[in-house]
Amino acid sequence: MTRILIINGPNLNLLGVREPGIYGNNSMESYLETLRSQYPNYSIEYFQSNHEGEIIDMLHKVGFDESLAGIVLNAGAYTHTSLAIADAISAINVPVIEVHISNVHSREEVRHHSMISSVCRGVIAGFGMNSYRLGIEAIVAQ
Ligand code: DQA
Repeated sequence: MTRILIINGPNLNLLGVREPGIYGNNSMESYLETLRSQYPNYSIEYFQSNHEGEIIDMLHKVGFDESLAGIVLNAGAYTHTSLAIADAISAINVPVIEVHISNVHSREEVRHHSMISSVCRGVIAGFGMNSYRLGIEAIVAQ
């Protein structure tokens, strides 16, 4: 079965609880069930960490695995700060799709710049939890 990995960065373990006006009421665990039923022919794996180094370690661990079709990455606030995550994405072979639940460009200016966009295959932002599904679509369609 083709594998896809979703990686969520800091504070995204609180989806469903955290600022529901911005991030919605759905937990990642319940949304993963929806995604897995929508893509029965794909193995949709999930990793979340609040720690920059753990996200980098995971990118290194899976990034050369030919059985992995792609990574859907919501790096959370590290999107705007982490040259180290950008370097890890550059280093690996597996394509990475950058996703955001909120439209970062309609929010505070500090969220308008992404350190990782230029090294990702593409960027999806602003579609709520559907951003993850659209990220998967980008991998499935390639
Ligand atoms: C986010 C947007 C980031 O600016 C923020 O720091 C997050 C979530 C999003 O999914 O909309 O933690 O990546």
